[in-house]
Amino acid sequence: MMQFGTQRVSADGRLEIGGCDAVDLAREYGTPLYVLDEDHLRANCRAYREALAAVTDRGLVMYASKALTTTAVAALVASEGLGLDVASAGELRTALAASVDPARLLMHGNYKSRTEMEMVLDHGVGRVVVDSLEEIAAWEERCAAAGRRQRILIRANPNVKPKTHTSIQVGQLDSKFGLSILSGAALAAVQKALACPHLELVGVHSHIGSQVLGWQAFAEAARQVADFLAEVKAQTGAVLDEVDLGGGLGIRYLPEHQPPAVAEFVREVVGALLARLAEHGLPKPLVLLEPGRSIVGEAGTTLYTLGVIKEIPGVRTYVSVDGGLSDNPRPEMYEAEYHVFIAGRADARADTVVTVSGKHCETDTLFRDVALAAPRVGDILAVQSTGAYNYAMASHGAGA
Ligand SMILES: Cc1ncc(COP(=O)(O)O)c(C=O)c1O
Repeated sequence: MMQFGTQRVSADGRLEIGGCDAVDLAREYGTPLYVLDEDHLRANCRAYREALAAVTDRGLVMYASKALTTTAVAALVASEGLGLDVASAGELRTALAASVDPARLLMHGNYKSRTEMEMVLDHGVGRVVVDSLEEIAAWEERCAAAGRRQRILIRANPNVKPKTHTSIQVGQLDSKFGLSILSGAALAAVQKALACPHLELVGVHSHIGSQVLGWQAFAEAARQVADFLAEVKAQTGAVLDEVDLGGGLGIRYLPEHQPPAVAEFVREVVGALLARLAEHGLPKPLVLLEPGRSIVGEAGTTLYTLGVIKEIPGVRTYVSVDGGLSDNPRPEMYEAEYHVFIAGRADARADTVVTVSGKHCETDTLFRDVALAAPRVGDILAVQSTGAYNYAMASHGAGA
């Protein structure tokens, strides 16, 4: 197994998380079961805060709650001093139910519904990231009607394509997100927003993708944003005070995945931004970061009960578990891979190659050609790094 947070193998070879025996947890609460390592989650929040504080005294970490949205997680992350990024009415409601200060919330989305816009204004959400020209007009109209002034950032598309699955590359020109710097759309959006009396344009946002195992593409995007801020100043005279560099740092799904450490990632990416701004003679902005996966991903483990073993001689052995794409759609959506092992024999040699299937109709392949330690019916299968984009993407009505 990969060593994350409080996870360890006990003297009798069983997986423990936070001092709890994983097999006992599975028996007590039933499976499929998401287990979250609170200490690990808190440590990741602190790692981001400390890394940002090491490069700037004007920084704010906003947890991207789309990665895992529950009231408990929202409250926990807020208690570590992070703000929250929300991207739907549901995420906003969850953050409010967890008593997160609305001023520390930031609302995202390439299509914000009427309800979502009303909620933002009713609750006094601190920042909105605007994603289109239509949205600027819509906010101005609504804010004027409500007698409010809303703080906004423009989501700029820097035309940077990070190395990751195509479904989660969003910083290239051909993307539904943001307004292109290259085409002039981002500058047009800034000019339009500056002319709106009910909008307070404070900054620019960029997010280029997710599960990226390096910092170079983010540093390039940060430099593009800095150049754009210089262009904004030259064209409009406005000096924008906030830069949100989004999220996207990858995690270890498999032992061979080697993401940079949070400290290195933040130093290189925020460093690239600040250096380029200084070259332009621009002042140090408030820097926001929006990590999701790298806060909660490795802190989560899913436990399943192995129920059926079907050997097709000379072809393949299928092992079926009591969950599947209803609790983790990522393998079917974008061939995501995971590290799996038998929780009760965590340090035994994995010598049997099987394909782990979910219980649902459709093919529902979870983990293709993975090695397990002589799997038996009734074993508890542990899947690491399921904290992000599992529960949040689950179909809550279709589980076991
Ligand atoms: C705008 C925005 N910010 C932050 C994130 C979080 O990304 P990650 O979970 O990869 O850190 C996302 C997710 O893709 C996003 O769309």
